[in-house]
Amino acid sequence: MEGWIVPPPKEPEKSREEFARERREKVRWLARRGYLRSPRIREAMLKVPREEFIPFLYRDYAYLEVPLPLPGEQATISCPHSYPLFYEPLGLDRGARFLEVGLGSGYGTALAREIVGPEGLVVAVEIDPLTFSFARENLARLGYRDIVLVLGDGGLGHPEHAPFDRICITAACPVVPPPLLEQLADGGRLIAPLREMGVQNLVLFEKSSEGIRREVICRVLYVPLRGEYG
Ligand SMILES: C[S@@+](CC[C@H](N)C(=O)[O-])C[C@H]1O[C@@H](n2cnc3c(N)ncnc32)[C@H](O)[C@@H]1O
Repeated sequence: MEGWIVPPPKEPEKSREEFARERREKVRWLARRGYLRSPRIREAMLKVPREEFIPFLYRDYAYLEVPLPLPGEQATISCPHSYPLFYEPLGLDRGARFLEVGLGSGYGTALAREIVGPEGLVVAVEIDPLTFSFARENLARLGYRDIVLVLGDGGLGHPEHAPFDRICITAACPVVPPPLLEQLADGGRLIAPLREMGVQNLVLFEKSSEGIRREVICRVLYVPLRGEYG
Protein backbone atom coordinates (compact mmCIF):
# COMPACT_ATOMS: atom_id res chain seq x y z
CA MET A 1 0.00 0.00 0.00
CA GLU A 2 1.85 3.00 -1.35
CA GLY A 3 1.91 5.98 1.02
CA TRP A 4 1.15 4.03 4.21
CA ILE A 5 3.44 2.13 6.59
CA VAL A 6 1.72 -1.15 7.41
CA PRO A 7 2.81 -2.69 10.75
CA PRO A 8 4.32 -6.22 10.59
CA PRO A 9 2.01 -9.27 10.79
CA LYS A 10 2.01 -10.98 14.22
CA GLU A 11 -0.06 -13.35 16.38
CA PRO A 12 -2.81 -11.33 18.10
CA GLU A 13 -2.46 -10.90 21.88
CA LYS A 14 -5.26 -8.49 22.80
CA SER A 15 -8.33 -9.64 24.74
CA ARG A 16 -11.98 -8.86 23.93
CA GLU A 17 -11.96 -6.33 26.77
CA GLU A 18 -8.87 -4.56 25.42
CA PHE A 19 -10.48 -4.32 21.97
CA ALA A 20 -13.71 -2.98 23.52
CA ARG A 21 -11.75 -0.35 25.46
CA GLU A 22 -9.80 0.66 22.31
CA ARG A 23 -13.10 0.93 20.42
CA ARG A 24 -14.58 3.30 23.02
CA GLU A 25 -11.37 5.37 23.04
CA LYS A 26 -11.36 5.53 19.25
CA VAL A 27 -14.96 6.79 19.17
CA ARG A 28 -14.09 9.52 21.71
CA TRP A 29 -11.00 10.46 19.66
CA LEU A 30 -13.05 10.66 16.42
CA ALA A 31 -15.62 12.90 18.13
CA ARG A 32 -12.91 15.17 19.62
CA ARG A 33 -11.27 15.53 16.20
CA GLY A 34 -14.63 16.49 14.65
CA TYR A 35 -14.90 13.42 12.38
CA LEU A 36 -17.84 11.95 14.27
CA ARG A 37 -20.93 14.05 14.90
CA SER A 38 -24.13 12.07 14.28
CA PRO A 39 -25.41 9.94 17.20
CA ARG A 40 -26.40 7.07 14.85
CA ILE A 41 -22.93 6.81 13.29
CA ARG A 42 -21.42 7.04 16.79
CA GLU A 43 -23.65 4.24 18.11
CA ALA A 44 -22.77 2.04 15.11
CA MET A 45 -19.04 2.58 15.63
CA LEU A 46 -19.40 1.68 19.31
CA LYS A 47 -21.35 -1.46 18.45
CA VAL A 48 -19.51 -3.04 15.50
CA PRO A 49 -16.33 -4.89 16.58
CA ARG A 50 -13.83 -3.74 13.94
CA GLU A 51 -11.28 -6.38 15.02
CA GLU A 52 -13.64 -9.08 13.65
CA PHE A 53 -13.13 -7.68 10.13
CA ILE A 54 -9.33 -7.73 10.24
CA PRO A 55 -7.20 -10.68 9.02
CA PHE A 56 -5.90 -12.71 12.00
CA LEU A 57 -2.25 -11.56 11.84
CA TYR A 58 -3.19 -7.85 11.79
CA ARG A 59 -5.98 -7.98 14.38
CA ASP A 60 -4.08 -6.21 17.17
CA TYR A 61 -3.80 -3.13 14.91
CA ALA A 62 -7.58 -2.86 14.45
CA TYR A 63 -7.89 0.62 15.99
CA LEU A 64 -4.70 2.17 14.54
CA GLU A 65 -5.13 4.90 11.91
CA VAL A 66 -3.67 2.79 9.14
CA PRO A 67 -5.31 0.77 6.32
CA LEU A 68 -4.59 -2.97 6.69
CA PRO A 69 -4.27 -5.60 3.93
CA LEU A 70 -7.16 -7.95 3.13
CA PRO A 71 -7.26 -11.20 1.16
CA GLY A 72 -7.53 -10.37 -2.56
CA GLU A 73 -5.83 -8.09 -5.05
CA GLN A 74 -5.23 -4.53 -3.76
CA ALA A 75 -7.93 -4.72 -1.11
CA THR A 76 -7.59 -2.96 2.24
CA ILE A 77 -9.73 -2.16 5.23
CA SER A 78 -9.64 1.65 5.46
CA CYS A 79 -8.45 3.56 8.57
CA PRO A 80 -11.10 3.99 11.30
CA HIS A 81 -11.55 7.73 10.64
CA SER A 82 -12.47 7.07 6.97
CA TYR A 83 -15.93 5.79 7.90
CA PRO A 84 -17.26 8.97 9.55
CA LEU A 85 -15.24 10.94 6.97
CA PHE A 86 -17.46 9.38 4.26
CA TYR A 87 -20.72 8.76 6.13
CA GLU A 88 -21.11 12.18 7.84
CA PRO A 89 -21.14 14.33 4.65
CA LEU A 90 -23.15 11.58 2.95
CA GLY A 91 -25.76 12.11 5.69
CA LEU A 92 -26.21 8.36 6.08
CA ASP A 93 -29.19 7.89 8.39
CA ARG A 94 -32.12 5.70 9.41
CA GLY A 95 -34.25 4.36 6.56
CA ALA A 96 -31.81 5.10 3.69
CA ARG A 97 -31.43 2.82 0.66
CA PHE A 98 -27.63 2.52 0.57
CA LEU A 99 -25.25 1.15 -2.06
CA GLU A 100 -21.59 0.51 -1.23
CA VAL A 101 -19.12 -0.07 -4.07
CA GLY A 102 -16.11 -1.90 -2.60
CA LEU A 103 -17.22 -4.20 0.20
CA GLY A 104 -13.62 -4.93 1.33
CA SER A 105 -13.72 -6.50 4.80
CA GLY A 106 -17.46 -5.86 5.30
CA TYR A 107 -16.79 -3.45 8.20
CA GLY A 108 -18.20 -0.35 6.48
CA THR A 109 -21.16 -2.45 5.36
CA ALA A 110 -21.90 -3.57 8.93
CA LEU A 111 -21.71 0.06 10.13
CA ALA A 112 -24.13 1.08 7.36
CA ARG A 113 -26.51 -1.74 8.30
CA GLU A 114 -26.60 -0.46 11.90
CA ILE A 115 -27.04 3.16 10.77
CA VAL A 116 -29.90 2.67 8.28
CA GLY A 117 -31.72 0.26 10.61
CA PRO A 118 -34.36 -2.33 9.67
CA GLU A 119 -36.39 0.13 7.55
CA GLY A 120 -33.37 0.85 5.31
CA LEU A 121 -31.59 -1.28 2.69
CA VAL A 122 -27.89 -2.10 2.28
CA VAL A 123 -26.47 -3.43 -1.00
CA ALA A 124 -22.68 -3.97 -1.20
CA VAL A 125 -20.72 -4.95 -4.30
CA GLU A 126 -17.16 -6.36 -4.42
CA ILE A 127 -15.20 -7.21 -7.57
CA ASP A 128 -12.54 -9.50 -6.05
CA PRO A 129 -13.77 -13.04 -5.30
CA LEU A 130 -11.29 -13.64 -2.43
CA THR A 131 -12.15 -10.33 -0.75
CA PHE A 132 -15.85 -11.02 -1.28
CA SER A 133 -15.65 -14.41 0.51
CA PHE A 134 -13.69 -12.88 3.39
CA ALA A 135 -16.34 -10.16 3.89
CA ARG A 136 -19.24 -12.57 3.51
CA GLU A 137 -17.82 -14.85 6.23
CA ASN A 138 -17.16 -11.91 8.57
CA LEU A 139 -20.70 -10.58 8.18
CA ALA A 140 -22.29 -14.04 8.60
CA ARG A 141 -20.22 -14.79 11.73
CA LEU A 142 -21.47 -11.55 13.31
CA GLY A 143 -25.08 -12.29 12.39
CA TYR A 144 -25.55 -9.74 9.58
CA ARG A 145 -27.98 -11.50 7.24
CA ASP A 146 -30.18 -8.73 5.83
CA ILE A 147 -27.56 -7.26 3.49
CA VAL A 148 -27.58 -7.81 -0.29
CA LEU A 149 -24.01 -8.93 -1.10
CA VAL A 150 -23.03 -8.95 -4.76
CA LEU A 151 -19.85 -10.29 -6.39
CA GLY A 152 -19.27 -8.15 -9.49
CA ASP A 153 -18.30 -4.77 -10.91
CA GLY A 154 -19.77 -2.13 -8.60
CA GLY A 155 -19.18 0.53 -11.26
CA LEU A 156 -22.28 -0.88 -12.92
CA GLY A 157 -24.27 -0.40 -9.72
CA HIS A 158 -27.15 -2.73 -8.93
CA PRO A 159 -30.22 -1.79 -11.03
CA GLU A 160 -32.41 -4.43 -9.34
CA HIS A 161 -32.46 -2.40 -6.10
CA ALA A 162 -32.13 1.14 -7.55
CA PRO A 163 -32.78 3.98 -6.90
CA PHE A 164 -30.44 4.52 -3.95
CA ASP A 165 -30.60 7.47 -1.53
CA ARG A 166 -26.93 7.19 -0.68
CA ILE A 167 -23.98 5.69 -2.60
CA CYS A 168 -20.45 5.29 -1.29
CA ILE A 169 -17.51 4.30 -3.52
CA THR A 170 -14.51 3.12 -1.51
CA ALA A 171 -11.95 2.91 -4.35
CA ALA A 172 -10.39 5.79 -6.31
CA CYS A 173 -12.04 6.46 -9.69
CA PRO A 174 -11.06 8.65 -12.66
CA VAL A 175 -14.74 9.71 -13.00
CA VAL A 176 -17.92 8.72 -11.19
CA PRO A 177 -19.24 5.69 -13.09
CA PRO A 178 -22.30 7.02 -15.02
CA PRO A 179 -24.56 4.05 -14.02
CA LEU A 180 -24.14 5.08 -10.37
CA LEU A 181 -25.32 8.64 -11.04
CA GLU A 182 -28.27 7.18 -12.94
CA GLN A 183 -29.14 4.89 -10.02
CA LEU A 184 -28.96 7.75 -7.49
CA ALA A 185 -32.41 8.96 -6.37
CA ASP A 186 -33.44 12.61 -6.74
CA GLY A 187 -32.17 14.37 -3.64
CA GLY A 188 -29.65 11.52 -3.23
CA ARG A 189 -25.96 11.85 -2.36
CA LEU A 190 -22.88 9.98 -3.61
CA ILE A 191 -19.37 10.16 -2.16
CA ALA A 192 -16.20 8.95 -3.89
CA PRO A 193 -12.43 9.40 -3.98
CA LEU A 194 -11.69 10.87 -7.43
CA ARG A 195 -8.30 10.89 -9.15
CA GLU A 196 -7.85 14.51 -10.27
CA MET A 197 -4.65 16.16 -11.52
CA GLY A 198 -2.29 13.69 -9.85
CA VAL A 199 -4.05 13.66 -6.44
CA GLN A 200 -7.13 12.02 -4.96
CA ASN A 201 -9.99 14.21 -3.72
CA LEU A 202 -12.90 12.93 -1.68
CA VAL A 203 -15.87 14.44 -3.52
CA LEU A 204 -19.52 14.65 -2.47
CA PHE A 205 -22.21 14.79 -5.19
CA GLU A 206 -25.84 15.76 -4.64
CA LYS A 207 -28.49 15.11 -7.27
CA SER A 208 -31.51 17.37 -7.67
CA SER A 209 -33.97 18.37 -10.42
CA GLU A 210 -31.54 21.19 -11.29
CA GLY A 211 -28.58 18.87 -11.86
CA ILE A 212 -25.62 17.57 -9.86
CA ARG A 213 -23.78 19.71 -7.32
CA ARG A 214 -20.25 18.71 -6.32
CA GLU A 215 -18.17 19.60 -3.27
CA VAL A 216 -14.57 18.61 -2.51
CA ILE A 217 -14.22 17.42 1.10
CA CYS A 218 -10.48 16.73 1.43
CA ARG A 219 -7.46 14.86 -0.02
CA VAL A 220 -7.45 11.08 0.48
CA LEU A 221 -5.48 7.98 -0.63
CA TYR A 222 -7.43 4.93 -1.82
CA VAL A 223 -6.79 1.76 -3.84
CA PRO A 224 -7.83 2.15 -7.50
CA LEU A 225 -11.29 1.22 -8.77
CA ARG A 226 -11.19 -1.86 -11.02
CA GLY A 227 -13.62 -2.90 -13.71
CA GLU A 228 -15.21 -1.03 -16.61
CA TYR A 229 -14.87 2.46 -15.10
CA GLY A 230 -11.50 1.99 -13.36
C1 LIG B 1 -10.53 0.45 0.45
S1 LIG B 1 -11.25 -1.09 0.06
C2 LIG B 1 -12.83 -1.07 0.86
C3 LIG B 1 -12.83 -1.04 2.34
C4 LIG B 1 -14.17 -1.41 2.93
N1 LIG B 1 -15.08 -0.30 2.90
C5 LIG B 1 -14.01 -1.94 4.33
O1 LIG B 1 -14.69 -1.47 5.23
O2 LIG B 1 -13.19 -2.88 4.51
C6 LIG B 1 -11.78 -0.92 -1.63
C7 LIG B 1 -12.44 -2.16 -2.17
O3 LIG B 1 -12.99 -1.86 -3.45
C8 LIG B 1 -12.92 -3.04 -4.22
N2 LIG B 1 -13.15 -2.67 -5.63
C9 LIG B 1 -12.31 -2.10 -6.51
N3 LIG B 1 -12.93 -1.90 -7.69
C10 LIG B 1 -14.20 -2.36 -7.55
C11 LIG B 1 -15.33 -2.44 -8.42
N4 LIG B 1 -15.29 -1.98 -9.67
N5 LIG B 1 -16.48 -2.98 -7.94
C12 LIG B 1 -16.55 -3.44 -6.66
N6 LIG B 1 -15.50 -3.41 -5.80
C13 LIG B 1 -14.35 -2.86 -6.23
C14 LIG B 1 -11.54 -3.58 -3.89
O4 LIG B 1 -11.38 -4.92 -4.27
C15 LIG B 1 -11.48 -3.34 -2.39
O5 LIG B 1 -11.98 -4.46 -1.69
